[in-house]
Amino acid sequence: MKRLKVGIIGAGGIAQYAHIPSYKKSDKVEITAIADINEEKLKYAADKFEIPRRFINWEDMLDEDLDIVSICSPNAFHALQSIKSMESGKHVLCEKPLCLTEKEVDDVFGTSVKTGMKFMGAMPRRFSGETAFLKKLIDKGEIGEIYYIKASYLRRRGIPGLGSWFTNKKLAGGGPMMDIGVHAIDFIVYITGLNQPEMVMGSSYNRLSDSAIDGGWPPMETRKGDKFIGDMDVEEISSGFVRFKGGETLFIEAGWAGNCEPASRVSILGTKAGIQMPDPENVKNPIRIYGETEGILTDTLPVIPKSDMFQEEINHFIECVRENKETGTRKEEIMAVTRIINSIYKSAEEGKPVRIGER
Ligand SMILES: NC(=O)c1ccc[n+]([C@@H]2O[C@H](COP(=O)([O-])OP(=O)(O)OC[C@H]3O[C@@H](n4cnc5c(N)ncnc54)[C@H](O)[C@@H]3O)[C@@H](O)[C@H]2O)c1
Repeated sequence: MKRLKVGIIGAGGIAQYAHIPSYKKSDKVEITAIADINEEKLKYAADKFEIPRRFINWEDMLDEDLDIVSICSPNAFHALQSIKSMESGKHVLCEKPLCLTEKEVDDVFGTSVKTGMKFMGAMPRRFSGETAFLKKLIDKGEIGEIYYIKASYLRRRGIPGLGSWFTNKKLAGGGPMMDIGVHAIDFIVYITGLNQPEMVMGSSYNRLSDSAIDGGWPPMETRKGDKFIGDMDVEEISSGFVRFKGGETLFIEAGWAGNCEPASRVSILGTKAGIQMPDPENVKNPIRIYGETEGILTDTLPVIPKSDMFQEEINHFIECVRENKETGTRKEEIMAVTRIINSIYKSAEEGKPVRIGER
């Protein structure tokens, strides 16, 4: 079978860290084109990874003979670039958040059905060994009925590029809940199958984003005296309390900055057992399963082989395209994730709960 041709839109951080190197490690594809509105970044990435065809205008790249487009641009462009790519006959792997609004979810998945082109979300946590193991346990009923979930994704200081597109609501769609909370929410919806949120209460704050304290992001070049400069019209920390149709609860918090212990944790409580999951890359605190055997409480520490989740994600997408398989990114999951995040923001803004379906 001939090698599939890949084009990349957006030549920044995630393209250079994950997408391009992972495609390069596969002998089933070749990256033949790349697009970025920033000429310097385009040249740097194209030269570094020896990508022959380069485009300032991503729509021009879609005239190329490509099988796959990987979308690594700022959030606001994801849906439009996915739709146009599929309409021009390319399968799409799109970075998170896949969509910013419910309409975008309808349009993107509708285009995939209409064109027959595959659409997959680049949600690396779905491809870790831990996730695969836990999903099997849940699907086999070993955790029992899941009813209570808590997820924390908190940085003490870690605003990505103050003044960049990340802190611009129009380009990013939101702050940390949209940027990193999305990983936790997608993981939970995927692994538990809870995709019918009914009621959401949210809060958001922006209290520390201009105070210049060393430690992680933002970078020092954005410092002026004792303040950081750079526009930021998104939250720096946000939380949401979500009730699903069956009465299940999710408490989620996501922050780029806060006077707190950094965290990347998910707790899932079921009637037979509970799961405590730290960041899949955090080897010091492995997954713990809180169970019960013969009337005795048990703690199990599964030993899960480490794997490169970005490489697994890219390999899976290539396999789906080559062998015409479903990508596993389902509309009802992405709709649930998008509704939860947007309802948290709406509730925070209005100061009252949001009932989904009454919007
Ligand atoms: N999966 C993950 O773990 C992960 C990690 C980091 C970022 N991301 C996601 O990847 C995307 C890119 O993030 P990043 O950290 O690489 O950002 P970045 O700013 O480093 O790179 C984005 C690139 O897109 C280019 N760009 C801007 N507008 C464009 C347009 N209209 N068309 C084409 N290119 C355009 C910019 O010039 C820049 O080079 C975001 O959606 C982000 O949420 C995912």
